[in-house]
Amino acid sequence: MVRILGISGSLRARSFNTALLRAAQELSSDDVQFEAATLHGIPLYDGDVEQRDGLPAAVAVLKERVAASDGVLLCTPEYNNGIPGVFKNAIDWLSRPAEDIPRVFGDRPFAVIGASPGGFGTVLSQNAWLPVLRTLRVRYWSGGRLLVSRAHTLMDAEGDLTDPATRKLLAEFVAGFAHFIRA
Ligand code: FNR
Repeated sequence: MVRILGISGSLRARSFNTALLRAAQELSSDDVQFEAATLHGIPLYDGDVEQRDGLPAAVAVLKERVAASDGVLLCTPEYNNGIPGVFKNAIDWLSRPAEDIPRVFGDRPFAVIGASPGGFGTVLSQNAWLPVLRTLRVRYWSGGRLLVSRAHTLMDAEGDLTDPATRKLLAEFVAGFAHFIRA
């Protein structure tokens, strides 16, 4: 059994990226345990808070979920051609204290996907994650690519991903990532 933790970088209830994660969970094969996490409750990083109180509870919980996973799938929106602040902020918190980076990130398989209503499907924010993930020394999976553009046209009235072609690509992506993790 491969345990994949998917993290959505959007707090919106009707987020296209969270919808992508829900679909990934649904489309995972029986030998993949796919869990979805969001960033609700993660405060802004503040070095004074860290020094005084240590990690906030929501940060500590998410950090241990990452550490307990076999691989992490970041589902990233794109804001102004970059990584949304809430998502980068959360990963910055998870990288504290720095002595924990090898346990939480180092050598752990990571992959990135994303959805946007625009035409480029988060290509720039996905690329913007690369130097961050390199700094954290993760084992980045570059064997698959999923850029979900025009995301609003691929969902039903409930906000679930229904487009058959995108669901197929997503299922293939998750299967490929699981294969990479096992190898
Ligand atoms: C956006 N959006 C956006 N989309 C994109 O493809 N490229 C971009 O550079 C931006 N920039 C941007 C900046 C800001 C501040 C916002 C709020 C939005 C649109 C964005 O893709 C859209 O809001 C998505 O719906 C966000 O993802 P979720 O919340 O649906 O997961």
